[in-house]
Amino acid sequence: MPQIHIAPDSEHLAQEAASFIHHRIHEKLEKVPQFSLVLAGGNTPVQTYQRLASMPTQLDWSRVHFFWGDERCVPHDHPDSNYRMALEMLLSHLPVPLENIHSMSCNPSPEEGARSYEDVLRRFFPAADVPQFDLILLGLGGDGHTASLFPDTRALDEHERWVAANWVEKLDTWRLTLTLPALNAAAAVAFLVQGSGKASIVQAALAGPPARLPAQHVSPEHGDVHWFLDRAAAAELPPGSAVTPVLPE
Ligand code: 6PG
Repeated sequence: MPQIHIAPDSEHLAQEAASFIHHRIHEKLEKVPQFSLVLAGGNTPVQTYQRLASMPTQLDWSRVHFFWGDERCVPHDHPDSNYRMALEMLLSHLPVPLENIHSMSCNPSPEEGARSYEDVLRRFFPAADVPQFDLILLGLGGDGHTASLFPDTRALDEHERWVAANWVEKLDTWRLTLTLPALNAAAAVAFLVQGSGKASIVQAALAGPPARLPAQHVSPEHGDVHWFLDRAAAAELPPGSAVTPVLPE
């Protein structure tokens, strides 16, 4: 069962999600030498990254490795780049060694970019048959996509590889994305969704018929799933949804 956290507004959502991420990293680094965090793209995570970047902390960021769940096929300095967004909002504010930042690139081609990213992951998770990320952050698109697993696209049917180049007809563009085997091997997944525009797709994803939307196929076998929503995005959830209310401090 996913754990649903509902915050009064986007500010509290960002604070709650940032605190969750910080706590997960802190908790895990007490037991193991490093933490692998997969960053989400799009707009929703911006406030969460800004909060995380500004939190007072004793965390040793040199023990955290950063990956991406997906990337647009644009240069890293392009306004649409998920790498650029995370760099500006989070990574440039933290003492993270460059070698801990594992960005995706569609160079020299989407297919070769996917293969080389998979090589990066297989080197980071040697002898593993799946990449065991400690925490994967995800968004939710209005059509139920997550990462760049869009409805009716080929990457949804990829059950072996960890990274895929995915042609997205509706956007007339290539994307790189982690596949469902990679997402579903995570120790934890956290969806970050805000705004009234997402209320109906959140209801469909969490209370609608199962396995219809790409996001509904994210269900880690040995991991926990969290949904961080603001009240606007949660507005169409049935009363009594198992929620962990986030009270304003
Ligand atoms: C991307 C994201 C994508 C995003 C959703 C929600 O590269 O765009 O990975 O999956 O999370 O489209 O985007 P917003 O947060 O901007 O609504």
